[in-house]
Amino acid sequence: MGSQAFAFPDDFVWGAATSAYQIEGAWDEEGKGESIWDRFTHTPGTIQDSSTGDVACDHYHRWPEDIALMKELGLKAYRFSVSWPRILPSGRGKVNQAGLDFYSRLVDGLLEAGIEPFVTLYHWDLPQSLQDEGGWAARSTAEAFVEYADVVSRHLGDRVKHWITHNEPWATAVLGHQMGAHAPGLKDYPTALKVSHHLLLSHGWSVPVLRRNSPGAEVGITLILFPLVPGPSSTAVLPAFRRFDGHFNRWFLDPLYGRHYPADMVAEHIDAGHLPAEGLTFVRPGDLEAIAAPTDFLGVNYYSPVILRSEVTAESENELLLLLYHGPDFEYTNIGMMVYPDGLRHLLNRLHFEYHPGKMYITENGASYPDGPDGDGRVRDQRRLSYLREHLAAAHRAIECGVPLAGYFVWSLMDNFEWSFGYAQRFGLVWVDYETQRRIPKDSALWYKQVIAENGFAIPG
Ligand code: FCB
Repeated sequence: MGSQAFAFPDDFVWGAATSAYQIEGAWDEEGKGESIWDRFTHTPGTIQDSSTGDVACDHYHRWPEDIALMKELGLKAYRFSVSWPRILPSGRGKVNQAGLDFYSRLVDGLLEAGIEPFVTLYHWDLPQSLQDEGGWAARSTAEAFVEYADVVSRHLGDRVKHWITHNEPWATAVLGHQMGAHAPGLKDYPTALKVSHHLLLSHGWSVPVLRRNSPGAEVGITLILFPLVPGPSSTAVLPAFRRFDGHFNRWFLDPLYGRHYPADMVAEHIDAGHLPAEGLTFVRPGDLEAIAAPTDFLGVNYYSPVILRSEVTAESENELLLLLYHGPDFEYTNIGMMVYPDGLRHLLNRLHFEYHPGKMYITENGASYPDGPDGDGRVRDQRRLSYLREHLAAAHRAIECGVPLAGYFVWSLMDNFEWSFGYAQRFGLVWVDYETQRRIPKDSALWYKQVIAENGFAIPG
């Protein structure tokens, strides 16, 4: 048997991703305001290893070195997020020039290195002062987001040509407000639903602002999406699939693509008492039109599918996280996420045929494995390398089916602060020694460098 070749389209965007709170550190330097993640991590009992992002990868000070590393790997693009409280310490009003200057230098440095910046405006670090006024449960926070998007894009819009409004509204709404695992640590379903609406609304409202301030730029949003897969002995029925698809995927995709919130899910939330009998009382006239503002691409974050176990029926209670991370007879990464590359192919095809976004980028995909330097200083992270290779092969199959996939970003450029898991989970292509801040490209990074250089790879048959 010969080898299987995976050649990607000529202009395919090869990248890696990070987010501000996870790498920057400098949490209270040069005028930065407090974020909800600063508050959350400084609250005992919230983070598994009791760590914080106070220093993280010290990227705020080491960014030139990090850009050099990206250049060495041959990255074509880098997805990072802007810290809202670094720009507007109180969430709105007074601008912190030092914060703008930091991102401006970063963007210039990337462009000089031939690396295209993909900027995410909201990767979860809301200014604490806005949380004090109600956070995303308050409509006024969506208005403040537009002000923030305006300030950032007025300063960077001449050079940044790829904007992502939000990263994973599902995570902010569900993990942050329904399950309490993420900042601000609330456990209130009705609040989570309101939050999801205000996140989407702030996205829709900011699309025209970004377009105005950044002529010719691509604007999109990133969702975490979950293909649904029956477990090996599953007798799960179609209504159960619809229902969980509704929770994870359709609740966000449908309004973004002009289909309103899914009626079956609204009915379910009314039944469950998450919404009043009148339904979506927080939706005002014009909101759905705003949310459905046409975008240039959909950012897709894919890690693992939802496995429906045999005992899941249409009526099963809300076991969402359980369903996410547990399924028999599968391989798991160190964080407990199932390895299921073909889910990516399914997901991309489904999005293409059902919602037809003009373009998609995989804005995150990656794996947590703890492999560190061996005696010779080399990091032999073979499992991550295989994970990336299998997922890229699945992405390639989707492209062959006609899916307009334009790029792929590994999560993450380097090991970093993994939210409620702290530093215990390492997703990086690059190893970070947190004591010395030394960076070592892992074997997966060297492999990825070669993939980028060859615009593809081959798997021996
Ligand atoms: C995603 C987040 C990212 C990182 C990865 C592992 O949901 O967007 O910040 O935590 O998971």
